[in-house]
Amino acid sequence: MKIPDNLVFVLFGASGDLAFRKIIPAIYSLKIHLLLPEKFEIIGVSRSVMSDLDFREKLKKGITSFSGEQNITDELLISFTNHITYLTLDISSPSEYVKLRDKLAETDINSGTGGNYIFYLATPPSLYTIIAGSLSSIGLSDQSVGFRRFIFEKPFGYDLKSCKELNKKLHDLFAEEQIFRIDHYLGKETVQNLLVTRFSNGMFEPLWNRNYINYIEITSAESIGVESRGGYYDKAGALRDMVQNHLLQMVGLTAMEPPSSMNPDAIRNEILKVFQSFQPIVEDEVDKYVIRGQYTASRVRGECLTGYRYEKGVDPNSRTETFVAIKFYINNWRWGGVPFYIRTGKRLPTRVTEIVIHFKPTPHFLFHVNDIDRSANQLIIRIQPDEGILLKFGMKEPGAGFNVKNVSMDFHYSELANIRLPEAYERLLNDVMVGDSTLYSRDDTVETAWKFLEPIQNGWSNNPAIKVFGYPCGTWGPETANDLIEGKDLTWRYPCKNLADDGLYCEL
Ligand code: BG6
Repeated sequence: MKIPDNLVFVLFGASGDLAFRKIIPAIYSLKIHLLLPEKFEIIGVSRSVMSDLDFREKLKKGITSFSGEQNITDELLISFTNHITYLTLDISSPSEYVKLRDKLAETDINSGTGGNYIFYLATPPSLYTIIAGSLSSIGLSDQSVGFRRFIFEKPFGYDLKSCKELNKKLHDLFAEEQIFRIDHYLGKETVQNLLVTRFSNGMFEPLWNRNYINYIEITSAESIGVESRGGYYDKAGALRDMVQNHLLQMVGLTAMEPPSSMNPDAIRNEILKVFQSFQPIVEDEVDKYVIRGQYTASRVRGECLTGYRYEKGVDPNSRTETFVAIKFYINNWRWGGVPFYIRTGKRLPTRVTEIVIHFKPTPHFLFHVNDIDRSANQLIIRIQPDEGILLKFGMKEPGAGFNVKNVSMDFHYSELANIRLPEAYERLLNDVMVGDSTLYSRDDTVETAWKFLEPIQNGWSNNPAIKVFGYPCGTWGPETANDLIEGKDLTWRYPCKNLADDGLYCEL
């Protein structure tokens, strides 16, 4: 990672959870790893009234709990937070923004930050256009003095229409190069390693196509429920919260053609081509290709877990999906006919994200099958936790005969001694500071992702007969999700068993 030019980092939504748990701890890590410029100031902006001192004390707690750094001393915390100030501002009132402009001008004079500003909008999306418009109207998007970059959190839009409207409004104010749409999955080390695995090894790429691959599955499972975000989540659901961004970006990197270079647009062009090649799922066939589920109360390892509809902020009659599994095809020369399966859910048995490449079986099987089935060659790219890569293949079982046993060759990132994996936000924040948008989503890719999901959203809202399947907390989602997988005896990969205590579902 490179050291950026001097700058001021303006954080809208400064009193929120994302700032506390992710953004500020990530910037602290950048400091510890000497990746901040010499002159660097943070201005937290929010509606709440708070003094600089209280803000700093709060952030120190967040850094201590969430940065994952060993190197946290009072001295370091003080020297870091001394460069953080707080501004109370009514974000929805454009006339208030002059306060911010004055503060930035003062900061430049006092700290020598040179007029370079990054604005991070860690706020509800409903505020994006008002913040962007207000900043632009007082000249804070003008790059004649220094760079001006704007980071937008997900969800970027609510559907295709709102995404297009948002892109249009932002393009009226800023150049696309100034807009950074963050998807924190792209900041994960192992997601980036997908590119390296595919394009720095001669052995994988020749097999990476319809001739040798049977199907591909991508799973992003979480064991937590909606926690304190019921209000947000009930309007979003798993499709908007995880699929539109994180899962489809992983599909893009898994399925893309080799880019002509590591230039941001070269990579994003290839991701766009994948998205443009998705075979549309038509509204009438949504239930054939998409399974949605919602977690219900159960007992996991003796603990009673609440059903989704009883979570705080959730409508007791909610039909919002906390689980979704989709089967689809990519209509191009490389992938024609290969099914892709993606699934994500909350309150599943464990937290795991992985991409599994299932290779085709040998054309003729000579040996006695022991614990291996004929399609057992799998390359598993483990995004988290225990990041690494696992290759499964058949070996001769020692002894008489030719019995085949399933074995694994694995690599864990933890085995790279003394290498610390940077947090996703660290990498992405450094990228925006140095102006590298490779790992940020472009306007056309987000729109194309929404376009693919539009018939699913329409199908669900127009056809109440499409079921929302219940699944007990601690299980792998509705059993019917298995029916999506084509082919005899083929299933999703289950990294661990269901955890719900059999027959002990609680009535909550
Ligand atoms: C966020 C979603 O984008 O990603 C959350 O809004 C989800 O609902 C989170 O829990 C998962 O991120 P990670 O990095 O823990 O896999």
